[in-house]
Amino acid sequence: MTQRTALVTGGTGGIGTAIIRYLARQGHRVATNYRDQAKAEAVKEAMAKEGIEVLLVPGDVKDPDSCEAMVRIIEGALGPVEILVNNAGITRDTTFHKMTYPQWMEVVNTNLNACFNVTRPVIEGMRHHKWGRIVQISSINGQKGQYGQANYAAAKAGMHGFTISLAQENAKFGITVNTVSPGYVGTDMVMAVPDDVREKIVAQIPVGRLGKPEEIAHAVAFLTGEEAGWITGANLSINGGHYMGW
Ligand code: CAA
Repeated sequence: MTQRTALVTGGTGGIGTAIIRYLARQGHRVATNYRDQAKAEAVKEAMAKEGIEVLLVPGDVKDPDSCEAMVRIIEGALGPVEILVNNAGITRDTTFHKMTYPQWMEVVNTNLNACFNVTRPVIEGMRHHKWGRIVQISSINGQKGQYGQANYAAAKAGMHGFTISLAQENAKFGITVNTVSPGYVGTDMVMAVPDDVREKIVAQIPVGRLGKPEEIAHAVAFLTGEEAGWITGANLSINGGHYMGW
């Protein structure tokens, strides 16, 4: 199989780490950004023990200049980015009537504006080389809304609008653009939801449990594969049956 260069943002978090591991095991060169050096070193060390070499580059997805610099460093070290997974994300949950402007902006900047900041520096290279795979990691809550997440749901829904426009503009350049919408996966982000609230959420999942990060990584690997060239503009729900939109 063709070895590609992959950038997965937010690769020090639960789902991001699983995606990096999966793509690396497929033989791809993998890179991610970090803001917290200690967390990055721990991830690098854990990956090295599994025989996975990951390039970690400082970068804040909220900041366009930082993203441009990060992409240039990755390209210098590993070659042009051919697979991009916009995965970095945060929550600042609170009901809208209590939400502050910073809580709104941090979430929109990190989840949605980051898609511009990171994709803009890689898209010309993909168009030039006539091959690319872009995946947005959105959320079930961008599809169905969620009490306490007006900021997050708006940003996550916006990510799929980004996907379907980019998919149209870049199809003729061999670039596919898709969204994966995970449900509640057992990461730190979901475990931060109060226990009683989370238990009620899990009770609504037909499969009867939280998702595993590898179950999301598996879908990303599928969508970024060579054989997935006819899948573009899709939104793949992976949520244990929690939301069955069509
Ligand atoms: N539907 C209807 N009512 C709800 C509700 C719901 N889903 N959730 C809470 N409420 C009600 C409560 O029953 C309570 O009602 P009473 O006042 O009548 O008792 C009331 O809302 C509490 O409202 P407050 O404004 O006082 O809320 P709060 O400040 O105590 O906290 C919250 C609200 C922060 C939203 C909290 O409920 C919460 O954390 N909810 C979970 C949000 C969530 O699912 N986040 C997902 C994080 S993981 C993630 O985002 C990953 C991913 O992509 C899936």
